[in-house]
Amino acid sequence: MRVSRQLELLDRLIGADIDRPWSFAPASMRNPASAYTDADRFAREIKVLFRDRPQFVGLTGECRLPGAFIAQTLGGVPIAVVRQLDGSLHAMVNACRHRGAPLLEGSGQGGMRRIVCPYHGWTYDIDGKLLNQPGSAGGFDDLAANCDLHRRAVAEKHGLIFVHPTSNEPFDVDDVLCGAEDEIADYGLADYVHIETRVNSWKMNWKLFLDTFTEAYHIRWLHKNSIAPYFLPDLLFDAFGPHPRAIGLRKDVVDQFTRKPRDEWRLLPYSTAQYFLVPNGLLVYQLDHVEVWRVTPTDVGSCRISTSIFAPDAPATDKARNYWKHNLDLLLDVTGKEDFPLQEKVQANLASGALPEVVYGRIEPALVHLHASINAAVGESTF
Ligand code: FES
Ligand SMILES: [Fe+2]
Repeated sequence: MRVSRQLELLDRLIGADIDRPWSFAPASMRNPASAYTDADRFAREIKVLFRDRPQFVGLTGECRLPGAFIAQTLGGVPIAVVRQLDGSLHAMVNACRHRGAPLLEGSGQGGMRRIVCPYHGWTYDIDGKLLNQPGSAGGFDDLAANCDLHRRAVAEKHGLIFVHPTSNEPFDVDDVLCGAEDEIADYGLADYVHIETRVNSWKMNWKLFLDTFTEAYHIRWLHKNSIAPYFLPDLLFDAFGPHPRAIGLRKDVVDQFTRKPRDEWRLLPYSTAQYFLVPNGLLVYQLDHVEVWRVTPTDVGSCRISTSIFAPDAPATDKARNYWKHNLDLLLDVTGKEDFPLQEKVQANLASGALPEVVYGRIEPALVHLHASINAAVGESTF
């Protein structure tokens, strides 16, 4: 984030009482509990938000070398993204054209020369072209169909990879980011190195994952014994289209206001800058590393969440590698022991039918923005 933007955001803090929030939504909002529990609404969200628009896949550093790949389920569609020899990316439906077996699993760091089906051995080039059908003795020769893998549109920019799970129409990453690229481009994400990814499943609606990070109002209660002593109780919120950007700040950010002239103030050294990539991603920039979160809804009341950590350089020693692993441990400790277990109980309460609605206060502007834009996308009115 350029210095002028950092100063602009710091100006918002000047004069604020750090024990009280300083940014408000224009109005509070009520959302029916069914937004989190209704199966019909969930089906509409999957179609409109997860299948009909490009989805966040990951960072360039996860798929850098020729033959590297990422296999993911996007909007229920099995997708494989593969780095080609010329440096471009291809996205393909990760299902064999013979009888639908999955071809690639997880991720690969590079060097894959062929894609071979585990079922009957059909073999594809890494661009998805069917090369041969071993042992078939010409038994498929009379098929008129082209059996190359189905292609999907993929785009890569600013170190971010997106795929459209149901279309092959080209798209531009900047159109997906709706203006967030203006800040995201400054982080040089394409150079970041993937360290580790961990995946967990939770019995909560996918939106509760986003809700977790959309306000800092809960920090002083839910995290009173972990991170509360160090962080301000609110976030610096702005929105780019549907995507909130919410910056958490360490309390000592305000010390510089009295110690230094304005042009020496900085925001980023004190920040946890969270860029929501609605619906399925969250990018978090912290001074010495980047975290990437991805959510995959599994049904209306459950989701799978992957958490990844990226470093500016490849760790050269075990000590450096352990430093990053420890960082990921700490992160998953707070979210995995404090945030998400509570969200599972919220989900159970909402599913009980005993609570007709939840409310998002003016004090939670990113939460209001997020749900108002999700409701608008799926044709629900907002109160
Ligand atoms: S399903 Fe892939 S070769 Fe048969
Ligand atoms: Fe939290």
